[in-house]
Amino acid sequence: MKKIRVGIVGYGTIGKRVADAVRLQEDMELVGVTGRTYNWRIRSAHRKGIPIYVIPGHDLSGRPGISIAGTFEELLGKVDIVVDTSPKKIGADNKEKIYIPRKMKAIFQGGEKAKVAECSFVAQCNYDECRGKQFIRVVSCNTTGLCRTLNLVHKKYGIKEVYATMIRRGADPWDVDNGPINGIIPVLEMPSHHGPDVQSVLHDVKIFTTAMSVSTTLMHVHTIIAECEKTPVLDEVIAAFNATSRIRVVYNESKVGSTAEIMELAKDIGYARGDMPEICIWKEAVGVVGNKLLYMQAIHQESDVVCENIDAIRAAMNVMSAEESIHKTNMALGIPERDKIEN
Ligand SMILES: NC(=O)c1ccc[n+]([C@@H]2O[C@H](COP(=O)([O-])OP(=O)(O)OC[C@H]3O[C@@H](n4cnc5c(N)ncnc54)[C@H](OP(=O)(O)O)[C@@H]3O)[C@@H](O)[C@H]2O)c1
Repeated sequence: MKKIRVGIVGYGTIGKRVADAVRLQEDMELVGVTGRTYNWRIRSAHRKGIPIYVIPGHDLSGRPGISIAGTFEELLGKVDIVVDTSPKKIGADNKEKIYIPRKMKAIFQGGEKAKVAECSFVAQCNYDECRGKQFIRVVSCNTTGLCRTLNLVHKKYGIKEVYATMIRRGADPWDVDNGPINGIIPVLEMPSHHGPDVQSVLHDVKIFTTAMSVSTTLMHVHTIIAECEKTPVLDEVIAAFNATSRIRVVYNESKVGSTAEIMELAKDIGYARGDMPEICIWKEAVGVVGNKLLYMQAIHQESDVVCENIDAIRAAMNVMSAEESIHKTNMALGIPERDKIEN
């Protein structure tokens, strides 16, 4: 089998995780990652034996604990596709200056505007729409979480309209420069960008979102009200969430009552880095009022998009169906196939 040769541009929160995930796929080869400034992450890449290619204008030669495989230019010449995980706007810049002139395939991240790609992507929602495209954007962690669960609700009950509020972590856990440390910061625009972003994947779902940032680094929480065409049945909804991979129902009954406990659960389950790639829905916070379904879900911002990037690579390369890719990715990353396990 000819492996898909993958390069990762940017080796930060998302890039380092996608790099590890690529290394676990039997049909992919991680050719290398880019290095820019000298830091613990790039040293860890070297310790793992990942080849490092340097971004122009930067010099990592002679720095302790790393060795250099080549230039960014050289990496580009060795790969079938790049996953661009650089900070927002830089991906769009790279597209114009590098990927278009070289006629390369690229996967972008949710920090970029939807127009960066031909298609915004969540594997369980619209893999087929993105098959064979040159440029795919994996949507943000929040949008991924909304799309995964709303897609299921929409298929089962038909969504008339959704109102959702995002309670967002202030910063990633390692990020000492961002906040807030004190105070709650509402997004002072209506709707927040998340609603329109969901529609870049679930085109026919009417959704209005609001958002705020709070002083925590452990996950985002969404409160969601979905008005449905058909009346949802509480036990049926919970069973459907339970039976869907990449969604996990968590139970206050078993003392998982907060995002902190979900993060501890993720470590106990044994997910790499203590990540939680599944969208977690609290069973006790699912409710039905008339035709409205209400639920709360927690999103591990650093990891829910990692499996999506893997599926987006296969969609762009057009090598297999959505079902095959999702199954393959789940197996490689240890994400349970929900219809086959006891919860
Ligand atoms: N963090 C999250 O929770 C999260 C979740 C979902 C999606 N996203 C999206 O994923 C993307 C990456 O976010 P991130 O959180 O992973 O960022 P990050 O942790 O800041 O990492 C960015 C990486 O890109 C590198 N970089 C900076 N400028 C570059 C350039 N000009 N060319 C190539 N590489 C460059 C950085 O290198 P240095 O370390 O040397 O600066 C770093 O390795 C963004 O679009 C973001 O919106 C983030």
